[in-house]
Amino acid sequence: MEAFVEKYTPPRIDGDFEGKHIITVEQFNRSDLDIIFDATRKIRRGVMRGEHGIPNLCQHKVLAFLFFEASTRTDLSFQAAMSRLGGRVVGSSNGISFSSVYKGENLPDTVRAAGCYADAIVLRHPMEGATYLTAYYLDLLRNQIGSQPVVISAGDGIGEHPTQALLDLFTLLDVTQRIDGLNITLVGDLKFGRTVHSLAKLIGLYEAPHTTLNFVAPPSLQMPQKIKDFLDTRPVKFTETDHLADVLADSDIIYWTRIQEERFENVADYESIKDAFIMTPDVLAKAKKNAYLMHPLPRKHEMGTPADHEILDRDPRSVYFQQMQNGMYVRMALLAKVLGVTSI
Ligand code: NCD
Repeated sequence: MEAFVEKYTPPRIDGDFEGKHIITVEQFNRSDLDIIFDATRKIRRGVMRGEHGIPNLCQHKVLAFLFFEASTRTDLSFQAAMSRLGGRVVGSSNGISFSSVYKGENLPDTVRAAGCYADAIVLRHPMEGATYLTAYYLDLLRNQIGSQPVVISAGDGIGEHPTQALLDLFTLLDVTQRIDGLNITLVGDLKFGRTVHSLAKLIGLYEAPHTTLNFVAPPSLQMPQKIKDFLDTRPVKFTETDHLADVLADSDIIYWTRIQEERFENVADYESIKDAFIMTPDVLAKAKKNAYLMHPLPRKHEMGTPADHEILDRDPRSVYFQQMQNGMYVRMALLAKVLGVTSI
């Protein structure tokens, strides 16, 4: 499937979202992000005030779910987003276990089946390149069926998780009001963690020349070279270290991540590294008073014990629940835009 990353070039957004597949953050430029974040703010205000209009934006539209990997937040927030826009959802994360995939159907046929019934498909898959493949086959299908189904990536293996990066950047801007000049520290499994791949690139695309990204990871889990090569072409600086203490006290944003156990080929490698970075109240005490702690979640032991969670959760610097809620608003905005809504 990785071959499709070379074979299929995702369409650039360039101000026009309608009918575009959402596969990688590289499709967005600064003004596309401004458009989606403005729409997100409008939608959030509308939902909070119970305004008329928002519930009808995607009336009669259908969103299909093809989740081949576990999910809580991405799955539920997309479902809630579509419901709040007045659309319908079909399929579910569990539904896949009973689909024809288990009769041996291949992914091109499964995604085209969903494309025949739905206006958009949310796909989560363990293989990098799966959303590129899906977009390729949906484009072929478009010539045959006369409708324009789009795929939105909900994470493809160790590749990208573009909508998570949108909600992360939206939240970051929401709490800090600016990103230029900030020190943004990404910690943990930067090799296998797809959220940090997308977020680092998206910050690079946001045109913030005085922003520094700090990559904190054990050497064997550092940010992949291809992401660093991309950042070299963007107006953003980055540093790498395996010592959190090098950057913690200067960080404005601390983005913590889980070691991606399921991506390791060998359990011993995971065991030897799993405790490398643990965020606890003692660690957070060394951060700036006005820093923010982010996490895409789910969290395991990398945020300490349940007692640590409780203390961290109460700290006003922790914004991971805001991230979660913003995820629904950002996905509402994105769904409305790709499905052709022009009124927001
Ligand atoms: C992330 C993912 O699936 O990549 N979860 C999410 O969508 N919020 C992060 C993770 O699983 O560690």
